[in-house]
Amino acid sequence: MRSSSKYEEQLSTFSKNSRVVLVTGGAGFIGSHTVLVLLEQGYQVVVLDNLSNGSYEALTRVEKLVGKRLSFVKGDVRDQSLVTSIINKYKISDVLHFAGLKAVAESTLNPLQYYSVNIEGSLALLQAMVENSVKRFIFSSSATVYGENAKIPYREDSSRGTPSSPYGKSKAAVEQILEDLAQADDSWQICCLRYFNPIGAHNSGLIGEDPEGVPNNLLPYISHVAAGRYSKLNIFGGDYKTPDGTCRRDYVHVMDLAEGHVAALQNLVAGFDVINLGTGVPVSVREMVAAYEAVCGKEIAFEIAPQRAGDLPEFWSDCAKAKQKLSWEAVRSLKEMVEDTWQWQTKNPLGYHNEE
Ligand code: WQD
Repeated sequence: MRSSSKYEEQLSTFSKNSRVVLVTGGAGFIGSHTVLVLLEQGYQVVVLDNLSNGSYEALTRVEKLVGKRLSFVKGDVRDQSLVTSIINKYKISDVLHFAGLKAVAESTLNPLQYYSVNIEGSLALLQAMVENSVKRFIFSSSATVYGENAKIPYREDSSRGTPSSPYGKSKAAVEQILEDLAQADDSWQICCLRYFNPIGAHNSGLIGEDPEGVPNNLLPYISHVAAGRYSKLNIFGGDYKTPDGTCRRDYVHVMDLAEGHVAALQNLVAGFDVINLGTGVPVSVREMVAAYEAVCGKEIAFEIAPQRAGDLPEFWSDCAKAKQKLSWEAVRSLKEMVEDTWQWQTKNPLGYHNEE
């Protein structure tokens, strides 16, 4: 039994040095990689996730990788009383909000579900925070909020556009809510991180992107073709006004993104801010296919298919602000992004379901 004086001393050190961070959606792709970096940097982490698009196995592996424990609560971010109980029980000091739906095409088929989860979920979370005076908040936003006519490269000082999908509209709506909240109460410290195209996996190959069903996004789909799960890739459009006719995107390694979140947490200031997290370097679909073939040593069969509704020909980030405000920049190369993606695929042909 520890003596009370020594124990109290340890407790005060514990509470002083370790911030307790609530990570909603922490069992998902970007969330799980961010949880890993938070634990590595000495934060106490509580994950709230309903596991609709995340895996408990991911969190188990994060604990093994870091050699530290985290707390997990299964539940829906829209359950305000649950969020309140978590904030009180764990003495939450900071919130990183990843929980949300993110499939663009699906959002056009099911807008109410997207507005409910992404907007109502954020409102319930923020209300619980207000009631418990927790006011440090990092929001998982997206380049899609720039809309369809923004000047390239996208800069944070351009106004939010009108995204075409309910998914994009829900992200823009939450950004607006957060801006109004900070305007009304200057004790809030809020940063919206606008991701470009997150890809890759932790270089252990133990955690990675594990989408449900047929992947919408390019990299998981290419990975399944390389692994022989699909016979070919459909390249949506080969006749865009781009150098090789295929769309160009700003792909960023998920570990760079995770480190960007922790840098944003460490640099949170009063008020509201938005920051791009990207590389500033556009890569075309054909270039991505070639990069993947070079890494996996296999041909990626593809066909040029019609353009996909809602796709923009090209966009990428101006990421000067992240460097200036967060001292952060993406450091992992396209080759590393693809190597880490392929390693995750080969070590986990069925994603986290390998364990079942
Ligand atoms: C990339 C490029 C496709 C699949 C979306 C969301 C964004 C973010 C990331 C959440 C495009 C082409 C793709 C395929 C293809 N989501 N492609 N064949 O659409 O740029 O961004 O995901 O945060 O908000 O908008 O990513 O990976 O779907 O597509 O040719 O089978 O690959 O046309 O040009 P996207 P993506």
